Amino acid sequence: MILLALAGCLCVTDGGSDLTERERRIVARMSPVPALPDDTSNRVADHPTAIELGAMCFKLPVFSSSGTVSCATCHKVDRGFTDGLPVAKGEGVGTRNTPQLTGVAHQRWFFWDGRADSLWAQALHPFEHEAEFNSSRGDVVKTLAAMPELRSRYETLFGPMPDLDGVPDGAKPGTDAWASMSDADRDAVTGAFVNIGKSIAAFERTLQPGTSPFDRFATALAEGRSTDGILSPPAIRGLQLFMGEAGCRNCHAGPLMTDRAFHSLGLPPKDGLLPADLGRAGGLAKARASAFRLNGKWSDDPTSPAARRAANAVDAPGNWGAMRTPSLRNVSITGPYMHDGRFETIAQVLDFYNTLEGQVQFDHHQETILKPLNLPPEDLQALEAFLKSLEDGAPDAASGEKAT
Ligand code: HEC
Ligand code: HEC
Repeated sequence: MILLALAGCLCVTDGGSDLTERERRIVARMSPVPALPDDTSNRVADHPTAIELGAMCFKLPVFSSSGTVSCATCHKVDRGFTDGLPVAKGEGVGTRNTPQLTGVAHQRWFFWDGRADSLWAQALHPFEHEAEFNSSRGDVVKTLAAMPELRSRYETLFGPMPDLDGVPDGAKPGTDAWASMSDADRDAVTGAFVNIGKSIAAFERTLQPGTSPFDRFATALAEGRSTDGILSPPAIRGLQLFMGEAGCRNCHAGPLMTDRAFHSLGLPPKDGLLPADLGRAGGLAKARASAFRLNGKWSDDPTSPAARRAANAVDAPGNWGAMRTPSLRNVSITGPYMHDGRFETIAQVLDFYNTLEGQVQFDHHQETILKPLNLPPEDLQALEAFLKSLEDGAPDAASGEKAT
C-alpha cells in the first residue's frame, strides 16, 4: 500500500499532478460508475429473458395507438436516449424535454418531478399518456399476447398469460371499458401490464454509461499512472471549476453527476408569470397516490427499506418548481437542455449559471445555492470542455451499434 501511494506521488508528472489531494479524492468519487444496487421490488430485474423482452418492448412501435411510436422514438440510442427536441413528440406533443437514460437505474425517483419511485412504475406511464403512446393497459397486454415472440418470453418469466377474451378495447382506469370489467379481470390485466413494465426496467438497467475520457483520466489518476493526453488542459481546468469554484458539485455530485434530489434553479418563466410547471411539488403527491408505488401491492418487496424511504419522503415548500438534478453523463449529445428544453446548447446553460439573468424567486423558501458565477469566457469554455469529456461513445446494448 505504501509503495503504491508513493508511486502515485512520484509518477504523475503531467496535467493530473496539478490536482490537489482534495480534488483527487473528489475525482475518485465521480468515477467509475458503480455496479447497480439490487432492485428487490422487481423480481425479474436482472433476468436475461426479461432483459430481452424489455428490449423488444422498448424498440417495437406496436403499442402506440397509431402503431408508429416506440420508447426508442423519443429515447434514441444515438443521442444518449434523447430525441433532440425541446419537448417530446409522440402521438401528441408533450410539455417536457426527453431525459437521457444512460445510468437511469441509479436514480431513486424518476421523471423530472420524480412522480414515479421505481423504474418499472415509470415504464408504465408512456403507454397510457396521450402525448406518448395514447393507448390503454388492456390494449397493450392484448397486443403483446398476440405476438408469439413476446408472449413466449412473457410466459417463460411470469407463467400463463391471463385469459384476455373478455377484455374490451381501450380498457384503462377512467374509461367505460374499464368500469365494465370485473375486479378479477382488472387485476389480471394490471398484473400483466406491471410485468411488462418490470421487463422494460430490466432492459433499462443494462443502459450503464460506458467509459468516457473523464473515466480514463480518473482511473489513471487513481492508479498513479500518467494522465498525459487523456484530457485537454481546458477540460482539466473545467473539472477543477466544476468541483470547486463553480459549485456544480453541490448538486451534480457523484459518478452520475447528480445528487438524485430536487432543486429549483429559478429559471425565468417563459411568459414572465409563475412557472407553469410545479415540478417536485406535484411529483411527490403523484408518486404517493400511484397504484404502482414501491410500497403498494404491485411491488415484489413492498416493505423494503427503499419502499419505506420513498413513502416517508417529505414535501417541502422549496419543492415548488423544483426538478431532479439531471445526470451529466453524455450531456454533450443530449440537448436541448433543461426540463422544458429551453437551451439549445451547453454554452447557453453555462451562460445562465454565469449571470443568472432573469432568475426568479418562487417563494422565500427557495434555496440560495446559486450565485452568479461571473466567470471569464475561457473558464466557461473550460467547463464545456470538461462536460464534453463525459461522453462515452460506447456501443449500445440495445442495438450493438456505435452511439456516436
Ligand atoms: C413521446 C416521447 C416519449 C416516449 C414515446 C417515451 N418517453 Fe420516456 N420520457 C419522455 C419524456 C418527455 C420524459 C420526461 C417526462 C417528465 O418528466 O414528465 C420521459 C421520461 C422517461 C424516464 C425517466 C428518466 C429519468 O431520468 O427519470 C424513463 C426511464 C423513460 N422515459 C423511459 C421510457 C420508456 C421505457 C418508454 C416506452 C415504454 C418511454 N420512455 C417512452 C419522452 C418519451
Ligand atoms: C442548486 C443545484 C445545482 C447547481 C449548483 C448546478 N446545477 Fe446544473 N442543474 C440542476 C437542476 C435541478 C437542473 C435541471 C433544471 C431544470 O430543468 O429546471 C440542472 C441542469 C443542468 C444542465 C442541463 C442538463 C440537461 O440534461 O438538461 C447542465 C448542462 C448543468 N445543469 C450543468 C451545471 C454546471 C456546469 C453547474 C456549475 C456551473 C451546475 N449545473 C450547477 C441543479 C444544479
